[in-house]
Amino acid sequence: MGNEATIHNGAAWKDTNGEPVRAHGGWMLQQDGYFYWFGEDRTEGRKVSCYRSSDLCHWENRGAVLTLDSKVRPVYYRTSLELYPPETSDIGYGQGAVIERPKVLYNERTGKYVMWMHWENGRNYNDARCAVATCDTIDGEYVYHGSFNPIGHMSRDCTVFQDDDGTAYFISAARDNADLLVYRLSDDYLSIDELVKTLWPGQYREAPAVMKRSGVYFLVTSACTGWLPNQGAYAYSDSLTGRWSQLLPFGDSTTYDTQPAFIVPIQSQGGKTEYLYAGDRWDPSSYHHSSYVFLPLSFPSDNEVKVEWADRITIDLHTGLIQPEVRESGLHRIKSCGSERYLAVMQPKGEDAGVIGNVLAYLSEEQKWIVEPCREDGYVRLRSKEDGRCLAVPLSPTGEPQSEAQLRLVQEEETRYSVEWILEDADAEGKVRIRSRATGKVLSAGLGEGGNRAAAFVHITDEAEHDPRNGRDPQRFEVLKVY
Ligand code: DGJ
Repeated sequence: MGNEATIHNGAAWKDTNGEPVRAHGGWMLQQDGYFYWFGEDRTEGRKVSCYRSSDLCHWENRGAVLTLDSKVRPVYYRTSLELYPPETSDIGYGQGAVIERPKVLYNERTGKYVMWMHWENGRNYNDARCAVATCDTIDGEYVYHGSFNPIGHMSRDCTVFQDDDGTAYFISAARDNADLLVYRLSDDYLSIDELVKTLWPGQYREAPAVMKRSGVYFLVTSACTGWLPNQGAYAYSDSLTGRWSQLLPFGDSTTYDTQPAFIVPIQSQGGKTEYLYAGDRWDPSSYHHSSYVFLPLSFPSDNEVKVEWADRITIDLHTGLIQPEVRESGLHRIKSCGSERYLAVMQPKGEDAGVIGNVLAYLSEEQKWIVEPCREDGYVRLRSKEDGRCLAVPLSPTGEPQSEAQLRLVQEEETRYSVEWILEDADAEGKVRIRSRATGKVLSAGLGEGGNRAAAFVHITDEAEHDPRNGRDPQRFEVLKVY
């Protein structure tokens, strides 16, 4: 392989056999010139698969390293050895226990590779346990040692971190995700030694990933919104178990449509160390279509980390140079703050094409809009990428809006409709009102009966003052770039 690797972010990743790379919620280790990528594989009886590559681009499937058939051996503390709990259903999209976010460390003292992961029973996320497995080789068949609640705590999204002196830590979300707990592991990495820190209690952080640079620790996390992306955050500290900074923004309001998986240091042959952020781009309606995004991190100062979008990155493993390339898609998703759903064309191309706030499939074309400037004074057309037509307000012959809830999709030249909108009055978080030029009215999201979000809809109404005591503003929208 050459020294240069190009990674196409968000594209469907294929291994060297042309099969999808199944390494979600993953982790990377380097050994003998190879990167080993571990991650969730929920096909058939597989739980964790491992791939390897010398260039971060061509990934060879080394097989499922943890499966329902893996050997099971208890270790010295009390664990549940079930990999196939009774009455599992379909939350795992496969058989048996749900295994998420597997992370692997090499233990110098014992010569073993130790895997920590999140374990659920396959019916729900209520057991919230961690689990451990080990192997003598990096990509061999791991022996499963069982699952447990660390010091009795719930344990969901997790990661590990190995410090320079070999001390390892397990970090996981506890108390129904409210707190992030940092545990020091025993010398053999097989059990919990001590709970050493509670991070951001009550702040509901998920998807932790830790790195260390010039003596400073960085921890990147997401907020807690299921499979949908949210604003990432990072914090820094000069001591993993000491005081940490407050959470600071990492990436944009969807972390470029990703959730953190891990950060991998890339040591170039020239001796330079770069850091790559790896995030999962989940497809909430089709887990198996979820993909991956790799972005270089930059450090404006010793205590700051920054991530920026790149459609593709080219990494020269010899010099350590990472070349990002950005291509503006010009597409947006429009998310209602009131209903937390996305504007989507419900009946594309049909006579009655209507628009509704909805999450159909997060990645679906029905949710993509082109925000197209149409006048010099900032007015835009909102053109559906899927349908090709524009969001419109029907007008009476005198130019009045005809009634509420009558949004349509039309070609821009139709005179009985107005297709000009302005995105205005952005609040501190950049959330806007979407006002029709012809009518002065604004888009407003309504929930279905009894507050049913699944039946949320969008209509056009007079602007109303919003009282935050009544929840989120139904007349505010977030215009998110599609990456
Ligand atoms: C978000 C977590 O980060 C994922 O690992 C997974 O547990 C999903 N939630 C499940 O909803």
